[in-house]
Formats: sequence, structure tokens, C-alpha cells
Amino acid sequence: MSNHEDYQRAEIVVDLSVVRRNVEQLCEAVAAHSDGPAVMVVVKADGYGHGLFGSARAARAGGATWLGVAHRDEALDLREDGDTGRILAWLAMPGEDFGPLIEGDVDVAAYSTAQLAEIIAAAKALGRPARVHLKVDTGLSRGGVPMSGWADLVTAARTGEVDGHVVVAGIWSHLACADEPDHPANDEQEEAFEEALAVAAEAGLEPEVRHLANSAAALLRPSAWYDLVRVGIAAYGLTPAPGVVSSEGLGLVPAMTVRARAALTKDLAIGDSVSYGHTFTADRPMRVALVPLGYGDGIPRHASSTAKIQSRGKSGAVLGRVCMDQFVAEVPRGTLAGDEIVLFGPGENGEPTAQHWAEWCGTISYEIVTRIGGNAGRAERRWTDDDGSLV
Ligand SMILES: Cc1ncc(COP(=O)(O)O)c(C=O)c1O
Repeated sequence: MSNHEDYQRAEIVVDLSVVRRNVEQLCEAVAAHSDGPAVMVVVKADGYGHGLFGSARAARAGGATWLGVAHRDEALDLREDGDTGRILAWLAMPGEDFGPLIEGDVDVAAYSTAQLAEIIAAAKALGRPARVHLKVDTGLSRGGVPMSGWADLVTAARTGEVDGHVVVAGIWSHLACADEPDHPANDEQEEAFEEALAVAAEAGLEPEVRHLANSAAALLRPSAWYDLVRVGIAAYGLTPAPGVVSSEGLGLVPAMTVRARAALTKDLAIGDSVSYGHTFTADRPMRVALVPLGYGDGIPRHASSTAKIQSRGKSGAVLGRVCMDQFVAEVPRGTLAGDEIVLFGPGENGEPTAQHWAEWCGTISYEIVTRIGGNAGRAERRWTDDDGSLV
């Protein structure tokens, strides 16, 4: 990461060359197997806080032939940015206008026969077939049609194909426990997926891509790969299965760094208590910094008195409660206002990572990067890459 000295308060730096290299590595890992699947990089929620456009460009440069998003507008924004590759948008509301997606050559998901009917109506109105991915609920009990309704969805889709209104481009599902490789739900969901594929084949469907795997399954479960893996968190360099393997163990590098300047430094005496509720009291003299980031910037309040930062190469604890705009952290003697405080980064220089923050805050790294980097936060984001082609 480059050294950029002119930020004032706080900044989030996303190294897009790191995202590109993570994606290259993921593509190589799955391609090493014969008949390896294509790779979709999931860039929803503003690229998990890393920025939609930069993440998408880095993903394409790294070899992603597909991008995945949740919302219609995320897909349309990518088209507006000039992305011309395959995109799947998978979460629509009743009454959604699928027309712009079909016109934009975006693949769409059908979670029910009612939704398929809406897609068909939009395709008819446009006089152009929609590319659809039929989603079957194999056990997550979240999106997709339950197995009991699968045959009906498949039949309706086949009729839509024969009528020329849809092309069934994909059949897909999502795993509940891929981050726990030994969990019995993984085998159960795979079996249910096989059953769903057989029903679809029986009805005459020949999807271009069957897909089931998220990052954890892409890295740990080749039997779930099928024709396409949908990789999100791993592309951003964070392990999807921290209970099993670290980012480092996977050869992935976290792409986001969050840092701030000390707004103020001061010395606490023994017995001085810190922040709302006085939940921390100094038991020794200590130097502290006021860090100008708080829950209004996406810093979890759960970080209060648990998370750590790095200042002048040394680790320091968050002291007392995280406030809306600021928190207090211990820093080395000699630290001055304006000095840099690193909350998390790649971890290569001993600084904490987003995974550490997740553990300290009782959550997952996905939430840390998405909430701090995403639209809810107020820190400026900056993108770097090693040859300048992605920013
Ligand atoms: C349907 C679907 N597929 C794939 C992913 C990517 O998951 P991960 O970030 O664990 O790779 C997500 C993310 O939540 C998702 O909702």
C-alpha cells in the first residue's frame, strides 16, 4: 500500500491490485482441477464496502467472467460504468421492473413461479428473452423455491423457453454451512441440489451454469463447484472460514486498510476513567489518543474496550466505549496529535486485520468491512493499485 500523507481525519484505502491478485489466485486454484468452474466475483453491497466499480474492475482484471450483485440498481450501475460481461442480479421485490435488466443483458434470478411470471411478462413486453437462473432452496430456508415447488417452477420455465420468453441460463442454490466443512448440511444440500438438477433435466432444461459454492465451498469443497463458483469475501482477501483456515493460510491478502489521525493526545493518570459510563479506568499512567471514528462511521460499538489499533508500530487497546464520532485508544509514549492510528489492514506489518476486529466485536469480517467501508460510514475512501489501470 502506498503512503499517502495528506488525508486529514480518516481514510479507507482499498488496494485494487490486491483484489485483482486474490481473484487471479482463486481462478488459478479452481482451474487447476480438470473441468474447473468459471468464477463469479460478488460485488454487492458496494463491493463489501470496497467500492462497487473498483472491485468489479479488479475482479474482471483478475479473471472473473461473472459478477454477482443482489439489487437491480447495482447491476445497472455496473452497466453504466461500462462493464459488458456477464452479471447476475439475484434479489428482486414483488412488482420489480425487470425490463431494464433484460435490456441491459443482465441475468436475473427467479425465486418463485410468481417471480418467473413477472420476468416473462417483462420479456414479452420487450420482445426479447430474459436469461434466468432458477433458484432452488436446498436447505438454507432463505431465497429460492422450496423443493416442494421446484417441479412447478421448472415446468413453467420450460414453457417460457419453448415460448421464446426466457432462456434458463442457470440453476442454483446457496449453502448454509460451507464455513464448517464437516457440517452434515453440506452433504444434504448437495444431494438436494442433485435431485433438483435431475428434475430440471427431466423437464428438458439444459442450463449453461449450475452453481452452489460461495467462497468457503470454492476453497474447501470441490464437490460443490459445478460450473461456476460465486466468490465474495475471499476476493477481498478475508477468510470465509476463520475457524478452519486463516487468510494467510489461503494465500489471500486483505485489500482494505482503515486508518485515522489522532485528533488529540493526552496522558491519563492512575484512576482516570474513560468515555461514557466510565467502563475503563487507568490502572497505570498511559498515553491515549482520541481517534476520530465512531459508530457513525461504522465502527461497531461492540469494539468498546475489546478491539486494538496500531500506532507507531505498537499495538494499543480501545479504552472504554466507542462513541458516535470518536473513541479513545492507548498509544505509545511520544505519540502526538496528527499521528497515524491504524485500525486494521492487511496485517503484514503487525497491524490488526478485519478478521481480528470481527473476533473482538463478536461478528464476521464481512460485517466489519461492509459497514465501515460502505455507504453508512463517513470516512473517505481511496483506491490504489500498482499500475494505476484499475483506479
Ligand atoms: C447468493 C450468494 N452467493 C454468494 C455469496 C458470496 O458469499 P461469500 O462472500 O461467502 O463468498 C453471497 C454472499 O452473501 C450470496 O448471498
